[in-house]
Formats: sequence, C-alpha cells, structure tokens
Amino acid sequence: MTGGAGYVGSVCAARLVEAGHEVVVVDDLSTGHEDAVPDGARFVRADIADAAPALLAEGFDGVLHFAAKSLVGESMQDPAKYWSGNVVTSLKLLDAMRAAGTPRLVFSSTAATYGEPDAVPIPETAPTRPTNTYGATKLAIDHAITSYAAAHGLAAVSLRYFNVAGAYGRYGERHTTETHLIPIVLQVASGKREKLSIYGDDYPTADGTCVRDYIHVVDLADAHQLALEHAETGSHRIFNLGSGTGFSNREVVQTCREITGHPIPTEFAPRRPGDPAVLVASSAAATTHLGWKPERTALPQIITDAWEFTQTHLA
Ligand code: UFG
Repeated sequence: MTGGAGYVGSVCAARLVEAGHEVVVVDDLSTGHEDAVPDGARFVRADIADAAPALLAEGFDGVLHFAAKSLVGESMQDPAKYWSGNVVTSLKLLDAMRAAGTPRLVFSSTAATYGEPDAVPIPETAPTRPTNTYGATKLAIDHAITSYAAAHGLAAVSLRYFNVAGAYGRYGERHTTETHLIPIVLQVASGKREKLSIYGDDYPTADGTCVRDYIHVVDLADAHQLALEHAETGSHRIFNLGSGTGFSNREVVQTCREITGHPIPTEFAPRRPGDPAVLVASSAAATTHLGWKPERTALPQIITDAWEFTQTHLA
C-alpha cells in the first residue's frame, strides 16, 4: 500500500489488518504520519518510485495506491510537483508491478477528474474535464492504468472519491496545510482558528453556497477491500464513491454547530477558483458491481466522528 500513513490510506490499512490481510505500507512521510500506520502493518519509509521494484519482487497479491499530492490550489501554482509526484511516480509504480507480475491494483482517483458536471448525480460515464491540475494528473493516471490493464493483464479498479470526511478512532484527517471544509470548521470549534471563510454565497444552489457529497472514510476504506476482491484480469473498472446526497457549506457549518455546541463564526469570502457549484456522486455502479453500500451516510455521524478525533487526537 502506498500512502498508508495518510488519512484515507491509514484507515484502509487499519481495516485491512483487522480483516486479516498482511499489509506493507510504503510512505515517504512527506504529508503522512508514521504513528498513523496501524500496528500489525509493516512500514517502509521510502519514495515509492525507489522502493517499488525491490519490494514488489517479494511477491504481493495487489497494490493499493493512495500516495499522491492532493492540494488543488497548490497544483495550479506548482504543476510540476503534481505531474512528477503523481503521474511520473505512478508510471514507475505500474512498471514495477509489471516487472514483478503483481496482479491487482486499486487506485485512488477523484471527483476532480470530472470538473464542472453537466448534471448531478454524476455517473462514471460523465465527461472528464478537470478544472485543475490535480484532477488532470489523476485522470492521466487513470488513462495509463487502462492501457496497462489491456496490454499486460493487470486487474485494476479506480475509485473516484467525492468529499471524504469522518474518522476511524485514532485514524483521521490531520494535514499540515488544511484546506478541507469540515476539518477547518472543527479547528474553529476547538479554538484553533477564529472563524470560517465561506467561499461564495452566490452559487446557483438553494442557499447560495456550494453543495458537496460527503462520504465517511470507513465506508470508503471498505470499498477498497471490495475493489481488491472484484478486480478482474485485463480490466480497468472505474467507480464513483459518495453517499449520493449533497449538503451545502451552510448546512455543514450548521450541523457542526449543533454537534460541537460552538457558535462557529463565519464570513463570506469570494468564490475559490475552480470550485464547481454542486458535486454529488452516483455510486450505483459500485453498488451493482462491487456490492458496496455506504452505511455511515448521515452527516451528523460523519461530523461526530471527525469531532471526536479532533478533540482526542488533535488537542
Ligand atoms: N470551503 C469553504 N471554506 C474553507 C474551505 C472550504 O467555504 O475554508 C468550501 C469550498 O469552497 C467548497 C466546500 O467548502 O465549496 C468543500 O471544499 P473542500 O476543500 O473541503 O473540498 P472540495 O470539494 O474542494 O474537494 C474535494 C476533494 C478534492 C477534490 C475535489 C473535487 O477533497 O480532493 O473535491 O472538486 F479534488
């Protein structure tokens, strides 16, 4: 598993270890945390491109590839970091897998591959027109995986995450540079930040703020296990993963107020460039083909889990 010291990777590693899998985490700790690697997983601190050939030669059933640069804003200012860190590194990983004969790959793709959608909920057949470099690099990797699967018999699944949130006990979101809505709101609730800037109140939505589809990180992690089980030789399947319900930024803030009991002062700020008004997933294909059914779709539950993690582990 690459990137297993990060937010989604660490939750997935923990769930896989609990399910009895042997897990090796490769992470360079550029954004991850060593103490997020679960007990019971072997940890290798390394750049994937350097470590993959020798490691994969040991023989693995599959690779879960989480490691990535994932800040949308940064990707626009420093595209080289994203083309190199995401695309070049992933191509090296694919080559190392081919050389070692590693049969399966589950890749962390993103809703950002779609860009501004024509309609919601977004199916996997929607046009892919990323509006930022981050999304473009993830889409490029998806295309590379399709070619490798067809040419070399790789069994591959890409999972396109919508807005991941929540926590799993001691595994949660702790980015040095935090850009995501829920952790930022919870920083305000825990006194680490004075107020929240809501980017835009003039979107064509019911309350004027953007609408997003929040998926609990545990439901997301469990989809990776199903993807590993259902991956088929020579095929690259792509699945959207969300809860299928959209919540506006105002609704998220209001729910956070109710859960934390903090007034959470807000101010309106200009729109953030590249933010689509509404992103909601159709996850029908994941339900049909992977048997995936998200169980933690209630926003209050997602926020309660994130709040508990914030209070216990980010204090
Ligand atoms: N937001 C604010 N204030 C903040 C932070 C965020 O108003 O301080 C708003 C954003 O403008 C957006 C919403 O909260 O309307 C959600 O923003 P996030 O940054 O939490 O999430 P995004 O929807 O931008 O990002 C998610 C994934 C990305 C992916 C993107 C696809 O986290 O990895 O969807 O568009 F690229």
